[in-house]
Amino acid sequence: MNILVIGGGGREHAVIKSLKKNKRVETIYALPGNGGIAADAQCYPVKATDLDGIVAFVKNHKINFAVVTPDDPLVLGCVDRLEELGIPCFGPRANAAIIEGSKVFSKNLMKKYNIPTAESETFTNAEDAIDYLRKGSFPAVIKADGLALGKGVVIAQNFNEAETAVREIMCDKVFGASGNQILVEEFLTGPEVSVLSFTDGKTVVPMVSSMDHKRALDGDEGLNTGGMGTVAPNPYYTEEIAKECMERIFLPTVQAMNAEGRTFKGCLYFGLMLTPKGPKVIEYNCRFGDPETQVVLPLLESDLLEIMQAVAGGTLTEDKVRFSKGAACCVVVASEGYPKKYQTGYEITLPETADKENIYIAGAKLENGKLLTSGGRVLGAVAVADSLKEAVSGAYALAEKIHFENAYMRKDIGKRALAAMED
Ligand code: AMP
Ligand code: GLY
Repeated sequence: MNILVIGGGGREHAVIKSLKKNKRVETIYALPGNGGIAADAQCYPVKATDLDGIVAFVKNHKINFAVVTPDDPLVLGCVDRLEELGIPCFGPRANAAIIEGSKVFSKNLMKKYNIPTAESETFTNAEDAIDYLRKGSFPAVIKADGLALGKGVVIAQNFNEAETAVREIMCDKVFGASGNQILVEEFLTGPEVSVLSFTDGKTVVPMVSSMDHKRALDGDEGLNTGGMGTVAPNPYYTEEIAKECMERIFLPTVQAMNAEGRTFKGCLYFGLMLTPKGPKVIEYNCRFGDPETQVVLPLLESDLLEIMQAVAGGTLTEDKVRFSKGAACCVVVASEGYPKKYQTGYEITLPETADKENIYIAGAKLENGKLLTSGGRVLGAVAVADSLKEAVSGAYALAEKIHFENAYMRKDIGKRALAAMED
């Protein structure tokens, strides 16, 4: 079988490595892939958002199955275009990807179907939002409606910060049309949990839970990033909470999407906050998380391709998805300065030991046979072990064996999770 994977980050590297375990897989094509993914797939320089380019590629290659992972091609309708060509796909169509593509849509969905989430108001006009915030309490959460490269959420500590954020999003249009509408949301507190799930629109099977570390600096300080590291499972996510989430959030969401005529097939990602009043949805993503995937898929014991085909074909069952009892940790090694300005083009040296297989490349290109840094998040070093403690030390031991100039990593990935396990 020939498989097409759309995307080119660490998450896609994890998906590809996992798909490769299936003996039926002959060739994996990655559009665009990256310099590290090139070791595991044939990469072609077609952007993930270039749907015409993707269609042209598919017409010239024999593709039996496609996996669309990033949010923007999903929201743009990449799956719809590929399905029109008769290619079975893992990933939601555009009418379902809107669950991530529009925060106003997902908030209205949750309100309509009583799915627990933060209270919020929607605004289409900056002055109305500012008037509302003037009378409000702080911190307040301001969210651009559309996709904003993970930067569309501002936690304003006071009115001035809130006003600045609203003007930047709605008047200066720093996120373009994504800021035509905003949500002003109640500030929730509690541990955050990421739960990725497989769903074929009927059955929803959660994967092992995980914990992201979104801020750039140790101690959860600094700017929000795409994610500086992850651990799985998330110790805050007990079996009791999992059961409650299934009943009150996961199944109701899948059913709500069906009722709206927007059946969701693919990976539905629940970003949850475990508040004193119970688990609430912070965000939905229509795709695998990055770097959550880098800790979740290494713990998957079942065959990823078979699960993905069952999702696409509407035959998903719980027994198809089995995870190991172990734990995993991913430490992201980034370019110093990320998520702001950073330098690229530095040569990356990887260890020549067996654990090289546990390195997931995100931002690197191949030039004259050398692997050079080309992005903010350069790679993830992953370890799987029986305990979380061993996984964390294993991931750091691997990260220490990787060298490039200006490398930066957080030193405390997993620290909070390990502390929570001791409580
Ligand atoms: P998002 O881009 O939706 O993942 O949001 C980024 C981060 O903002 C989340 O991981 C949370 O830490 C935080 N956040 C989002 N919504 C809220 C909320 N209502 N209350 C508190 N924190 C929030
Ligand atoms: N790591 C968060 C995300 O993928 O959205």
